[in-house]
Amino acid sequence: MADRKPLIAGNWKMNLNRNESVKLVRAIAESISDLAETEVLVSPPFTTLSVVKEAIGAAKIYLAGQNMHWETAGAYTGEVSPAMLVETGCTHVILGHSERRSLFMETDEMIDRKAKAAVGMGLVPIICIGETLEERDKGETFQVVRRQLELSLRNFREQKTMPPSTILAYEPVWAIGTGRTATPQQAQEVHQFIRQWLNEHFGSPAAEQIRVLYGGSVKPENAKELMAMPDIDGALVGGASLKAETFIRIIRFHEA
Ligand code: 13P
Repeated sequence: MADRKPLIAGNWKMNLNRNESVKLVRAIAESISDLAETEVLVSPPFTTLSVVKEAIGAAKIYLAGQNMHWETAGAYTGEVSPAMLVETGCTHVILGHSERRSLFMETDEMIDRKAKAAVGMGLVPIICIGETLEERDKGETFQVVRRQLELSLRNFREQKTMPPSTILAYEPVWAIGTGRTATPQQAQEVHQFIRQWLNEHFGSPAAEQIRVLYGGSVKPENAKELMAMPDIDGALVGGASLKAETFIRIIRFHEA
């Protein structure tokens, strides 16, 4: 069993102004000063990345963009480049979140290009996958997840290598913002499937090192049992990451 350090990541989506963001990240920083066993990441909107970076200071909190373009520069109104994220202090970037896929028509092919560009700039991609309720009800969960893995990791697959720092996030669409969490067993089943797929394509050392986060209605009340599953290596938290009290309890899941 590989030694995968748990990662608790907060996806703030389109929330929080500058003051709220600074207050939240300071509270998180203060609460983790004695914490060594878990890694912490926040992903604010583009407009507050700079102030959040400043507020993080020397605390061990990683910073992630919520999206980016794959090109380096050019006429792409409304987009930001990988270099811009790096310049702002980001070490990670969330790619292919289901809200990007369903509301902004992002395809697996675009996510594949973005993942390649992110790694090229030294950013760690957090690549999101997950089925809709309709797909789950039709018994297509594994098929959908496999297809998303194959297409959005095409470049890595063709190179037969994927940086072991890469992070995947299984986020069943039906569990996002609905209060309906996947049971630990339902999540573990898919996480195990993802790890087997990684093993087939990139071999055992990489598959054992790559972290697979679970996302979808993670709360202080369910974090510990989800994190107890052997193939769940962390959480990508939406709603509950917007309040210091709930996010800190999730970060300290092992104390629950
Ligand atoms: P919720 O935690 O609000 O369900 O959101 C999950 C998510 O989409 C994280 O990226």
